[in-house]
Amino acid sequence: MMWFNLAQAQSSFMPTEGTKIAAQVDNLYGFLLVASLISCVILIGGMIFFVWKYRRKTNNDKTAYITHNTFLEFLWSFIPLVIFLGVFAWGWYVYHDMRSMPKNALEIHVFGKQWAWEFEYKSGVKTGNLIVVPVNKDVKLIMTSKDVLHSFYIPSFRIKQDVIPGTYTALWFNADKMGEFHVFCAEFCGTQHSGMLATLKVVSQADYDAWLEEESQVGTLPLAKRGEKIFAVKACASCHSSTDAAVKVGPPLFKKFGTLEHVEGAADVTIDENYLRESILNPNAKITKGFQKGVMPAFQGQLSETELNALIEYIKTLK
Ligand code: CUA
Repeated sequence: MMWFNLAQAQSSFMPTEGTKIAAQVDNLYGFLLVASLISCVILIGGMIFFVWKYRRKTNNDKTAYITHNTFLEFLWSFIPLVIFLGVFAWGWYVYHDMRSMPKNALEIHVFGKQWAWEFEYKSGVKTGNLIVVPVNKDVKLIMTSKDVLHSFYIPSFRIKQDVIPGTYTALWFNADKMGEFHVFCAEFCGTQHSGMLATLKVVSQADYDAWLEEESQVGTLPLAKRGEKIFAVKACASCHSSTDAAVKVGPPLFKKFGTLEHVEGAADVTIDENYLRESILNPNAKITKGFQKGVMPAFQGQLSETELNALIEYIKTLK
């Protein structure tokens, strides 16, 4: 079946194949592409050839009046039927592999939200827009959304699944190449849909263990350092710059603490702990001049008091 393997000629045509299933999907896709090309040549080529061959040559030219040919009709129905049934069986086989969740997989919880991916490991480690997994290990993602429909898509693994609020959906993969892969949101989910990206890192089992161990120390870090982690996990940086005064979707937070903020339809306010608290929990209460209402999701109920303090302490250190 390697004959159909687009991977050989893929370099820029298809993304890297990060799993065995990706190679299987590409083989099937390659077969469909080649089979379609051959059918197209036979059909269109045959049509043009016969139009030319049986064209009227003189005014009195009368070709025999042919109504049908049972054997030919049987052939051109039966051969495609066999091919289609073969493609169905082949597709079913690959899809079955793709959708049968392995037992004893490493399970990771995934949350989609406008507009970031959050990951939660069983040990309690949380990451934002970053998922780290060991190589050659079955990994099962248990996914749900905190707001609207999203879709979790790893092009290099050829897998994609809707992420739906109020219910769980799942995906699994077994990455056989180490490296970094892209994760996209493949369901239009609002203003920053195209920025809803994550990185999937496939590392050795030893590196994975070390990483998980290091991440589980977060609870013992000083508040501001913890805040920096939460800032990353909640993907705050995709809308708020923490390193310069660049204006992204939201106002920058760099050197902002203690300064005056111009607010839409109200008097200026000093950026203090209370203002930050309110702006995180209920962002629509006071909108910074020049920005839009309703863009930032409310974090009410999503952060503990300690996490909130850690975030505020972190924002205070941005100078
Ligand atoms: Cu989430 Cu598009």
